[in-house]
Amino acid sequence: MKSEILKMLKTSSGYLSGQQLCEKFGVSRTAVWKVIRQLEEEGYKIEAVRNKGYRLTGEADVITQAELQSMLQTRWIGNRLEYFDETDSTNIRARKLAEEGAPHGTLVVADSQSAGKGRRGRAWISPKGVGIWMSLVLRPPIRPADASMLTLVAGMAVVKGVRKSTGLKAMIKWPNDAILSGKKICGILTEMSTEEDRIRYVITGIGINVNVSSFPEEIAEKATSLKEELGEAVKRSLVIAAVAEAFEEFYDSFLKTHDMSCLMEDYNKALVNRNRQVTVLDSRGQYQGRALGIDPEGSLLVQRRDGTVESVISGEVSVRGIYGYV
Ligand code: BTN
Repeated sequence: MKSEILKMLKTSSGYLSGQQLCEKFGVSRTAVWKVIRQLEEEGYKIEAVRNKGYRLTGEADVITQAELQSMLQTRWIGNRLEYFDETDSTNIRARKLAEEGAPHGTLVVADSQSAGKGRRGRAWISPKGVGIWMSLVLRPPIRPADASMLTLVAGMAVVKGVRKSTGLKAMIKWPNDAILSGKKICGILTEMSTEEDRIRYVITGIGINVNVSSFPEEIAEKATSLKEELGEAVKRSLVIAAVAEAFEEFYDSFLKTHDMSCLMEDYNKALVNRNRQVTVLDSRGQYQGRALGIDPEGSLLVQRRDGTVESVISGEVSVRGIYGYV
């Protein structure tokens, strides 16, 4: 009822009559009033006028269950939605839910994480109220070996979602970091559970620095936020909804072929490293070359000075610009 009322408040041009709300939901006036109070406590400004009803006059940047349900226009992402004011890590939560049988598309969102996880065992700083910390439970009908491409799909979804909701021209740094002004705005952590040669579930965790205005010294040089780039605060629920919508679109394309063939062109257009010199670091050492773009398997093709083309597989190597991060 709360998300329904919120949706009605958002879409109504005038006042919403209390009486109509009571009749629609078959509840008392007190029950409606209690929902309005809860929304106010969450940060919505609601004007109540006797004999007229309720009207939304302003809203804070909230990402609660009701807010997200009122914004999401997806088919399967978020049909089950779990919101936490604070949690250890949305990836850990999503994994627990998946183990308990949560369906494909379950979305876990938190306002803050106390133990956010980054790649390679690093911590992901996830302060309260300023970022998007979310994880998706996926149950894709693909081979475990193909699952790493889902991370590329997620990267594309973030870039498209950020562009649509803010107008900022986010780009991808292979394999899946979203970049603005040469700095990272998003990180993606994909974890998988398999049994024999079958995927039980995949957790795709997405962290976006939305309204973060200061970063710890060690990452300040290479991290930025949507707010810093845009010069004004961004409404997080709008970005979440846009990313989720784009994810559904790209995921469907990916499933047609179980690889990046249908997405390769769009991906390469958004690739910040394309045609740039990069340094590839793998277990055997490092070499330089020109990044050409991805192939249908999602590997980065890098042309070495002698003209040979290496296919760089994600997860096994690190790719940097020759002068810095990009
Ligand atoms: C990276 O190192 O670039 C990946 C960072 C992934 C962070 C996100 S925030 C939501 C989800 N929950 C986590 O604990 N990590 C991911």
